[in-house]
Amino acid sequence: MMKAMVYENYGPPEVLQLKKVEKPTPGENEVLIKIRATSATLYDCWVRSATAPPGFSLIMRLASGVKPKYPILGTDLAGDVEAVGENVTRLKSGDRVFGFTGEGMGAYAEYICLPQEEVALKPVNASYEEATAVIQGALTAWHFLRKANIQRGQKVLIFGASGGVGGYAVQLAKHHLGAEVTGVCSTSKLEYVRSLGADKVIDYTQEDFTRNGEVYDVIFDTVGKTPVSRTRRSIKKDGWYLLATFSLPMVIQLMWLWKVRKQNIEMGTLSEDNAEELTFLKELIEAGVIKSTIDKTYPLQEAAEAHRYVETGQKMGNVVITV
Ligand SMILES: NC(=O)c1ccc[n+]([C@@H]2O[C@H](COP(=O)([O-])OP(=O)(O)OC[C@H]3O[C@@H](n4cnc5c(N)ncnc54)[C@H](OP(=O)(O)O)[C@@H]3O)[C@@H](O)[C@H]2O)c1
Repeated sequence: MMKAMVYENYGPPEVLQLKKVEKPTPGENEVLIKIRATSATLYDCWVRSATAPPGFSLIMRLASGVKPKYPILGTDLAGDVEAVGENVTRLKSGDRVFGFTGEGMGAYAEYICLPQEEVALKPVNASYEEATAVIQGALTAWHFLRKANIQRGQKVLIFGASGGVGGYAVQLAKHHLGAEVTGVCSTSKLEYVRSLGADKVIDYTQEDFTRNGEVYDVIFDTVGKTPVSRTRRSIKKDGWYLLATFSLPMVIQLMWLWKVRKQNIEMGTLSEDNAEELTFLKELIEAGVIKSTIDKTYPLQEAAEAHRYVETGQKMGNVVITV
């Protein structure tokens, strides 16, 4: 048996309860990982409450089912390989790893079994906490940025630059791709976003980036609250509009923009087999190109508290749960 934070019904953070559940055994292509740290993300909160961006709640509920399909949340984890299935070639018992579970979740627990394609060796210079903190945000940021084929010196604006996704987008765009980066955030986070590498910062409480006359090669919106009709005017004709999140009303405008105006748009989601991308992140972390920001850390049994904090929408970087 093992301990896990389990939720049996959708609802507020209190639905997360510490329980004893069956310890999993690895299939032939799987590794059994003893989890040391996981992350509390906005995605976890949406799944737990069966809510989603405006307009998507019903779709989310239909996709999720009447009762939670996966009673243990958590997509990101770092830990130690304890056993491997007979077909596992890339990893062995004792390896320190980090992994992304995708839709199946399950990381708010002492153990998890994952296919070897979802796991990679952890960066040697990152703690378990630092390694888990980087996963969802950096994988998402990279998934979007690489679609735009960004060239050195191109102008990239990141909206939500202080968040879990935006913070890595700033670092990757600046330090890995060599872009000229503008980060948009609230007043108290301007210095933080500058410290991540942003060349310029815009305080959205003081200035509307869609009205300052600047145009960008790429706009990456991780907040999804700026009207499409305004954002598109700030993107160059052959530029890219990247959206990590959006509301249902926005989708209609985005479809029009894509079909009629031939705007380059990316609004997809992550795949699950990310071992290659995780290894890429490991190399960037070890080379000092990107680093994780841990805002707060909670023990597993206080996962509900971690969710309350994430739901404020004001976290800076990532929230970690130690197991
Ligand atoms: N498509 C995918 O595969 C994928 C994967 C992961 C996440 N996501 C989505 O990406 C989004 C961002 O995730 P995250 O982890 O970065 O969230 P987060 O850490 O909560 O960051 C969101 C940022 O938005 C800013 N913000 C909040 N309210 C705002 C407002 N009214 N106007 C402007 N900025 C505001 C906050 O910065 P300030 O405090 O500076 O305002 C915060 O740092 C989420 O919706 C998540 O579900 C998508």
